[in-house]
Amino acid sequence: DNNNAFSEKLVTWYEENARDLPWRQTTDPYRIWLSEIILQQTRVIQGLPYYEKFVENFENVSELASADEQTVLRLWQGLGYYSRARNLHKCAKEIDKKFEKNFPKDSKSLIKLPGIGKYTSAAIASFAFKEKVPVIDGNVYRVLARVFGLDADIASGSGQKKFEELAWELIPDKNPDTYNQAIMEFGALHCTPKSPACENCIFRLECSAFQNDRQDALPVKTKK
Ligand code: ADE
Repeated sequence: DNNNAFSEKLVTWYEENARDLPWRQTTDPYRIWLSEIILQQTRVIQGLPYYEKFVENFENVSELASADEQTVLRLWQGLGYYSRARNLHKCAKEIDKKFEKNFPKDSKSLIKLPGIGKYTSAAIASFAFKEKVPVIDGNVYRVLARVFGLDADIASGSGQKKFEELAWELIPDKNPDTYNQAIMEFGALHCTPKSPACENCIFRLECSAFQNDRQDALPVKTKK
């Protein structure tokens, strides 16, 4: 049906256009968690050297847990938002102690950990454990808003809920992890905030925003 067509087109696009990023070569939840925390308010280009530095210095979550906070903060220097680094360390210690060095394996348990919110819990559960759960970041909001003409306000709880419902309808049973990477990558590389590449877009014929010239109006986000 239509939803399958959407995910299949995205995944085909992804296989031809994806960047080769180190955290996509692994299903180690530690490395996936690390990459997602680093990338939260940071661009991939800026985050990459930090990711490499952290996995070199701390090979697993126990090594990070055993480090002293000053060492962790020093390695984090330049990334900003230092509460991310403090939560990273706190989370590592909690996993090391309470979960006997193993990451919890589902999104509902992961979300209870320090610094892990809805997006990050879904990303780890999907990429490390293949859980069928949609990841919804800024890229995903933009792609869904434009292709489906969904003009609910992404700054409001009720708006976010509408996007979540749509995201659940679209995620495929087969390889939901690849689909999740694909929709984020499509938003990051093709369906960009400014000057999206509509002329050669796979959704050109059905995209609501393109058909109605509303690319700049979507997604709707009211300032709070
Ligand atoms: N930004 C956040 N998560 C990402 C991922 N898994 N790949 C690329 N960019 C990202």
